[in-house]
Amino acid sequence: MRLSSTSSKTSEWPGLTPEIVFNGSEFASLKDSVIIVTGGSSGIGLANVKFLLEHGAHVVNGDLKPGSLTHPNLTFHRTDVTSWPDLISLFKQTKATHSGKLNHVFANAGITSHANYLSEALDPAGDLLEPTSKTLDINLKACINTATLAIHHLRQQPQGGSIVLTSSASAYQPLCVADYTASKHGVLGFMRAMNSTLSVAEFFAAG
Ligand SMILES: NC(=O)c1ccc[n+]([C@@H]2O[C@H](COP(=O)([O-])OP(=O)(O)OC[C@H]3O[C@@H](n4cnc5c(N)ncnc54)[C@H](O)[C@@H]3O)[C@@H](O)[C@H]2O)c1
Repeated sequence: MRLSSTSSKTSEWPGLTPEIVFNGSEFASLKDSVIIVTGGSSGIGLANVKFLLEHGAHVVNGDLKPGSLTHPNLTFHRTDVTSWPDLISLFKQTKATHSGKLNHVFANAGITSHANYLSEALDPAGDLLEPTSKTLDINLKACINTATLAIHHLRQQPQGGSIVLTSSASAYQPLCVADYTASKHGVLGFMRAMNSTLSVAEFFAAG
């Protein structure tokens, strides 16, 4: 997906990132493409699903529950992203119902903070209870697993594809939601490291 910057506000607002304007033609390649979106039943995921459908894509939504949106090009595949077998099934089923085609993967499913690292709650033996890893499991581990499967499938086709991972502004800020912030820092770090890893792998594969 290419974005074009057709206007810039930097002269009016020094120091700010230039405004990016889409003229619409950048998204023409989405037509008839096959896209997996995790967590596509609500919020940011749903907004993206709508956008992709408007541009003629076929979308498979991997979420715990279906959303309210129905569309001939939208399929729901019940997926708990923390389950490796569920993710395997999401990718397999998507390719099976779209003649082996898969163009883009959007690892978006995520939840808010759940851990309290200041809790003094004790177990029956009087030891400190282990904090929940729920947010890390969904936001980071499952996002990495989704990307790993995406790489596996997209590398099998000469045209490749693209992977989008949802991080957050909290990846850059010390917000008071430590498990969420850690998960989003992790997503950013994983994306940066894999970008380099894939470039090196491509370099050696090219001989
Ligand atoms: N809302 C924000 O302000 C904001 C800001 C930055 C980043 N984000 C990130 O954007 C993503 C989407 O957030 P949102 O605000 O749209 O949330 P949301 O709660 O509206 O949507 C999240 C979706 O993920 C699904 N989901 C949750 N756990 C799942 C699981 N185990 N398996 C499959 N699906 C699961 C939910 O059912 C839901 O449909 C998240 O990764 C979130 O961290 C959100």
